[in-house]
Amino acid sequence: MEVYPPKYHLITFGCQMNKNDSERMATLLKNLGFASTDSKEEADLILINTCSVRQSAEDRVFGQIHLFKPLKRANSKLIIGITGCLPGRDRDQAIKKKMGIVDLYFPTDQMSQLPRWIAELRPELVNSVDLVEDYMKLVPDRKTTRQAFVSIQTGCNKFCTYCVVPFSRGLEKNRPLKDILDEIKGLADHGCVEVTLLGQTVNSYRAPDAELFSQNNPYTDHFAKLLWEVNQVKEISRLHFTAPHPLHMTDDIIDAMTLPAHLNFIHLPVQSGDDEVLRRMNRRYTSAQFMEVIKRLKAKIPNLAIGTDIIVGFCGETEEQFQKTVQLFKDADIDISYTAKYSDRSGTAAHRAFADDVSNEEKKRRWEVIQQLMEVSVVKKNQRFVGEVVSVLVERHEAPRITDEMLMMPEKIQETIKNQPGLCYGNSREMKLTRFPGTKELVGQIVNIKITRADMWILEGELV
Ligand code: SAH
Ligand code: SF4
Ligand code: F3S
Repeated sequence: MEVYPPKYHLITFGCQMNKNDSERMATLLKNLGFASTDSKEEADLILINTCSVRQSAEDRVFGQIHLFKPLKRANSKLIIGITGCLPGRDRDQAIKKKMGIVDLYFPTDQMSQLPRWIAELRPELVNSVDLVEDYMKLVPDRKTTRQAFVSIQTGCNKFCTYCVVPFSRGLEKNRPLKDILDEIKGLADHGCVEVTLLGQTVNSYRAPDAELFSQNNPYTDHFAKLLWEVNQVKEISRLHFTAPHPLHMTDDIIDAMTLPAHLNFIHLPVQSGDDEVLRRMNRRYTSAQFMEVIKRLKAKIPNLAIGTDIIVGFCGETEEQFQKTVQLFKDADIDISYTAKYSDRSGTAAHRAFADDVSNEEKKRRWEVIQQLMEVSVVKKNQRFVGEVVSVLVERHEAPRITDEMLMMPEKIQETIKNQPGLCYGNSREMKLTRFPGTKELVGQIVNIKITRADMWILEGELV
C-alpha cells in the first residue's frame, strides 16, 4: 500500500508553551512531507507532547499509550513517540520502562532530531532532511490567525522545590529579540491582533541581542523594553504575557503595562500566602512582598483583573498556614485562581527533603475552600461590569440550535429560532469570557459590548 504523504497524529497535553511547541513540531513534520491526520488508525507516526506538572497529567499519558496497543498490533510499523516534559524529567528512563511500546522518547529541545530518527526507523517515509539546529527557530504552524502565543523564553532557573519544569525543560534560555519581533511582525502581517508572550518566568527576560532595542525605548528592564517594542507594532492592539514571577515585577514593567496594547489583566502566580511555606517552596518572596507588588500594580492600573496559581496541601502545610493563603487571596482581591492540590514529583527537592504529609482528603477540602472563595468573589467582581461597555475580540460563533424539545414546537417558531443570529464568544480586555447575540461574520473582529448580565464564568451583553 502506498503511504504518501505519510501521516502524523499529534496529541498535546499541558500548558500554552506545549501547544506552541506542538505548532513547531507540526512545521517540522510538514517540511518533512508529512500530513496531519485526526485518525490514529491511518497515522504512520503518533506523537504525544506530554505534561508532567502533576501526577494526574502523567496518568493521562499512560491512558493514551494504553489505547495505542491495539494499533501497534495491527500495524507493527507504526512509530509511537513521546516528547514534552515527561521524557525531560525522566533521566534514568524509569517511567519509559513502564510504557512498553514507545519507539521515540525525547525532551522538547531535541525535537529538531526528529527527522533523523524517523529516517532511521522508516527510511521510506523521508525524502530529504533539512536539519534545523534550534527548534525555537522553527516557525509555528498556527491554526488561528487573529491571536497567537509567542514563546520568548524556554526553561526555568528558579527551581521551586515542588516543580519539575527546570528538569523537564532545562535552564532558562531567552530568544533573541530579533526573532521575537520578526515573528510578531510576521503575525501582524497575517492579521494577528492579539499576542500572548510566553515564558516560565516571562518577566525575567533578557535579550541576548539587547543592542537591537530601539534608541528611543524609554525603559531599562529588558522585559519592559520588549513590551514597549511590541506596542510599536501597530496592528497588535491586545498584548499580554504569562507567567511572570513576582520577584521580577519591576516598576518599569508595571509602567509598560499601561501602554495602549496591554490588556487589563495579569496572571501572577503566588502559590501560597504563608512565608514559611513560600520559603520551603523556594519562591524567593514573602507574602508581604507579593502584596507590595499587587499594591504597585493597582496604583498604576486601578481596574486590573488578577489571576493567580495556588498550591494547597504542600508538604507540612498546617491549617494555620493555609489560612494565610485564604487571607492573601482576599487581601489581593484575586479574580481567578488556578488551584492545584500538591502532587509529589520524583526528582524534585521537595520530594527529597519533605514528606507529602497532607492527606488527599485535606488537600481536597482546602482546594474547595479556595474554589468557593473564588466563586463568591468573582461573581461580585463580575457584577461590577453590568452597565459597562467592554471591548471583546470575538473568537467563536455558535449557530442557533434546535434542541430535541424544540422539535415539538410549531415549525414557524423553529424557523424563527433558526433565523436568530446565534451567539458570539470572546474575551474582554480583562480576560472575562463574554457572550452576546451576533452573526458569524463578527469572528475575528474587536467589538464593544454593553454588559447586561454577569455570573461566575461569563459576562453577557449586546453589541453597541
Ligand atoms: N512558571 C510558572 C508556573 C509553571 S507550572 C510559575 O512560576 O508560576 C504551572 C502551575 O502548576 C504552577 O504555578 C503551580 O501552581 C502548579 N504546580 C507546579 N508543580 C506542582 C506540583 N508538584 N503539584 C501541584 N501543582 C503544581
Ligand atoms: Fe516551576 Fe518555579 Fe520555574 Fe515556575 S518558576 S516553572 S513553578 S520552578
Ligand atoms: Fe507546561 Fe506541563 Fe511542561 S505545565 S511546562 S507542559 S510540565
